[in-house]
Amino acid sequence: MADARARVEELRSEGAAAIAAAPDAAAIEELRVRYLGRKSELTQILRGIGELPPEERGPVGLAANAAREGLEELLGRRRAELEGGELEHRLAEDAIDATLPGVAPVAVGHLHLLKQTRREIEDIFVGLGYRVMEGPEIEHDYYNFTALNHPPGHPARLTQDSFYVDPATLPPGVVNEHGLPPGPKDVLYRTHTSPMQVRSMEAQDPPIFIVVPGTAYRRDTIDATHSPMFHQVEGLAVADGISLADLAGTLEEFARGIFGPGRQTRLKPDFFPFTEPSVQVDVSCFVCGGSGALADGSRDPLCKGTGWIEILGAGMVDPNVFGFVAQRDGEGDAAELRYDPERTQGFAFGMGIERIAMLKHGIPDLRIFFENDVRFLEQFA
Ligand code: PHE
Repeated sequence: MADARARVEELRSEGAAAIAAAPDAAAIEELRVRYLGRKSELTQILRGIGELPPEERGPVGLAANAAREGLEELLGRRRAELEGGELEHRLAEDAIDATLPGVAPVAVGHLHLLKQTRREIEDIFVGLGYRVMEGPEIEHDYYNFTALNHPPGHPARLTQDSFYVDPATLPPGVVNEHGLPPGPKDVLYRTHTSPMQVRSMEAQDPPIFIVVPGTAYRRDTIDATHSPMFHQVEGLAVADGISLADLAGTLEEFARGIFGPGRQTRLKPDFFPFTEPSVQVDVSCFVCGGSGALADGSRDPLCKGTGWIEILGAGMVDPNVFGFVAQRDGEGDAAELRYDPERTQGFAFGMGIERIAMLKHGIPDLRIFFENDVRFLEQFA
């Protein structure tokens, strides 16, 4: 009996020492098998108790069971200890330093050059106190032409022939300016952003300072400078005492904002049915600086040797246009006209976004804007 009990105590202290020294969870498992597993010495001793002399069975059994329980407890404690340590270790290892510089996200693309140019133009006018407005691309003949002083049959309509919308495809309830169902030539893809002149004035009293970016359509050939779909920015400024000098100063400020601080502008006579007088605005060439010649003395191809580049059309709002602005309540009573042609003055301008972008970036062919060739697009990231 002394032998068996002594061996049990030996196993117990040997096991306890090994458990205390176990470095990790795997070592704990190995010790569990070695000291408590089915083939372990302690298990053998417990199984062999029946073969011991009767007086030894009790004390050896008690000692062996106590050793087993004691070792089990030590194993459990050490395992918990190690797991805690491992967690701490892992936490320490996985810790991130949130103050380190981040990894830049993969580029997902950028705005199209036309959209960038549109925003640049908007920013300049917003800086001058203008608001940005948008309007419908499918427009009534009335706003596109008639209210802009192109009565039906006016020859200037021919220069902006368009795509008409089949009235059968319009939503129910659409009527023309006479309150009648639209006819075959009453609704069209707008040929310019100018219909927003009258629409914006109907929506608000003077003073009004707006720019209207958007898409316009014309029945046109497709070549290096024409496309049946293109983009414009309209401008409208109406307030007491606005003069042609305000137009000139505003557009010079714009030209300097978009083409560079040294630019000069000049006005030349032009014609639009809805402005009187009408002007063409030229900007001094930013390639040759206005001389018309390149550094080697050759003719500047951008301005064709003239030193000037046409950038937009503009003019003083024709009094007839104010007359087309639908009146609020007291219809027809001149005293209540919100845009009284006798008093109100303003200027309007319209520019092509493609043209501005082509001039600014030396793009020779307008078609390239719409081809979605990344080799072109990526140059303007
Ligand atoms: N709407 C004219 C065009 O598309 C441009 C313009 C706008 C001219 C405003 C004068 C005033 O050609």
